[in-house]
Amino acid sequence: MSYTQKEIIDLVRPTKVHRKVYTDPEVFDLEMERLWAKTWIYIGHESQVQDKGSYITLNYGKVPVVMVRDTDMEVHVLHNRCGHKGVKLVDKACGKIPAFRCCYHGWRYRLDGKLLGVPYMESYEDTAFNKEDPQYSMQKLRSDSVRGFVFATMNADAPDLRTWMGGAADVMENLCDRAPDGEVEAAGGVLRYEHECNWKMFIENLNDMMHPMVVHRSVVECARDYIKTLPPDSPRLDEAEILLPFGASYEVMNDSITGFKYGHHYDGGKTSIHADYTLDPEYAAAMKSAYGEARMNEILSFNTHNTLYYPSLTIKSAIQNIRVVRPIAYNKTIIETWSFRLKGAPDSMLKKTLLYSRLINSNGSMVGPDDLTAYFRAQQGLESEASDWIEMHRHFGKDEVLTDRVIGKGTSDLDVRTQYTAWREYMTVAA
Ligand code: FES
Ligand SMILES: [Fe+2]
Repeated sequence: MSYTQKEIIDLVRPTKVHRKVYTDPEVFDLEMERLWAKTWIYIGHESQVQDKGSYITLNYGKVPVVMVRDTDMEVHVLHNRCGHKGVKLVDKACGKIPAFRCCYHGWRYRLDGKLLGVPYMESYEDTAFNKEDPQYSMQKLRSDSVRGFVFATMNADAPDLRTWMGGAADVMENLCDRAPDGEVEAAGGVLRYEHECNWKMFIENLNDMMHPMVVHRSVVECARDYIKTLPPDSPRLDEAEILLPFGASYEVMNDSITGFKYGHHYDGGKTSIHADYTLDPEYAAAMKSAYGEARMNEILSFNTHNTLYYPSLTIKSAIQNIRVVRPIAYNKTIIETWSFRLKGAPDSMLKKTLLYSRLINSNGSMVGPDDLTAYFRAQQGLESEASDWIEMHRHFGKDEVLTDRVIGKGTSDLDVRTQYTAWREYMTVAA
């Protein structure tokens, strides 16, 4: 079927959403066109392209793009496509080059995408072909960054990046402020994890505070049982500090969720499942010397759990890792986990970040596969004919609506309601 405007809008109600948003390939295609192409999508971190000519490749929705560092050190996001016959120019995930050169007929491009040279140019003499015409260059996407995190959009009318982020930018600032030198860099490679489910299932789980104590219960119980076998004077285990809070009670998880325009949200603030991590004394000394004690305490006491920059980026500022959503099809999504080094901090901090990424987010981890099983079963269940609606009533009508944000209990469904309010707006095409 082809959806009318009204039929698309009717898929989302204030407290429920139709199962077709997860199961219909046509809705997926419309999302790529109307939502992903209209908003800011996370591309990568500037530290991934540190040198002139360094690049990474990825897909922006269905569009292949390359992020590259130019000779003047500017970072560009370019459509990874030759201006001649559309061949994908760069095939490797990352690398370093002096210029782009197409593998097919050898057209060459500068690092800012401009067409540089065409072999045997004489054969175009007395034709209308004009090498200077911008249509033959690699197309540049509008891009911008916050503290080194680069986003791009295909929408010339999108608000500027900071405006789009709104109050959710505080969490990205906090992630970087946790570095004594005020900067972070990607470190330790990437974990890529295929999820056989719709992309929205991952981001809807992010601040779902009703699931950890159920779906992760077996892992937490095993960890507790193992710890009981250790001698009482055993050293503190980082693994235990990371794993045990996943079994926290509903009361602990009920701090708050804060939602913003454009679908962003974070949970916690006063406290989170990361709040009780032991403070590394060497790190504390570096922070104190960089910021003074009062500012250090202010930075470290902003304790969020997960933050979503709808729809493509989720970050954990307290443990310095991010997860990136790369949709492939209506029922297939790649989730990438990247870890970050706090510049000026001791190596022990990165070690703990990498431990967290491995222990919680990788496909061989103890926690991520629990969530994936739930998403996969949801995908299977929703593809069958039964009732059509998925509910999101929890705390409905009790959230506090402020000028620039909505605040509710940690167990509120305001996170998903925030996402679907944005979804509906993006998916509505101006008449
Ligand atoms: S398709 Fe790239 S040079 Fe011909
Ligand atoms: Fe989970």
